[in-house]
Amino acid sequence: MRRPVLAGNWKMHGTRAENARLVDALIEASDEARCDVVICPPLVYLWEIGRQLKDSPIGLGAQDVCAEAQGAFTGEVSAAMLKDVGCGYAIVGHSERRQLYREDDALVARKFVAVQGVALVPILCVGETLDERERGVTEEIVARQLDAVLAVAGIAAFARAVVAYEPVWAIGTGKNATPEQAQAVHAFIRARISARDAMIGDGLRLLYGGSVKAANAAELFDQPDVDGGLVGGASLKADEFVRICAAAA
Ligand code: PGA
Repeated sequence: MRRPVLAGNWKMHGTRAENARLVDALIEASDEARCDVVICPPLVYLWEIGRQLKDSPIGLGAQDVCAEAQGAFTGEVSAAMLKDVGCGYAIVGHSERRQLYREDDALVARKFVAVQGVALVPILCVGETLDERERGVTEEIVARQLDAVLAVAGIAAFARAVVAYEPVWAIGTGKNATPEQAQAVHAFIRARISARDAMIGDGLRLLYGGSVKAANAAELFDQPDVDGGLVGGASLKADEFVRICAAAA
């Protein structure tokens, strides 16, 4: 039985005061959690929120990371720094990083390795655009994104990773993939990993992301290969996120 993971990707939202209220509400509701809950606030808030989460079961993650360990990389933050301020996870390869900041598969693979290099858990995002889905190349795209990481990190690395399938057309659009669409791609991802190592494939936690909300969470999480969610907009509302977590648990 794979333990569900619920990750909240706050993106570039929040203030110190708003964060404190949101985190308070999540901590209050988290006692019964039968899943791993992780929140991913903007970098500047990680330290403070990490302090607030201390002694709570909620994990802390970053939304991105630099592939380099240290040095002259103005504006960047290393995996070791994320660990130093209390992170346990880092998202790599989010479609907004791929699209808006031109991150390619090779860079995402290096970020994945950097994150594992300091014993943090990478949440690797993969997913196709609307155009790619309409052209019928969804599996080809997801395979390419996965294989780029497998080539650099190796199959064993997936025993210590989480993968999130996030169809780009479903992110922030209010238009989620149907449970059947999500399940089909999740099964494809698991099969691809299992072909290299059946045990790792079986244990790999696969999250769905893209317009997850309390109203659609249960039917998505009911799918056999959907082990939780990567939640954007709905993770900014405490009651909504708590209900989504409950649907996963
Ligand atoms: P959304 O974002 O839930 O707002 O669609 C998901 C994500 O980008 O991780």
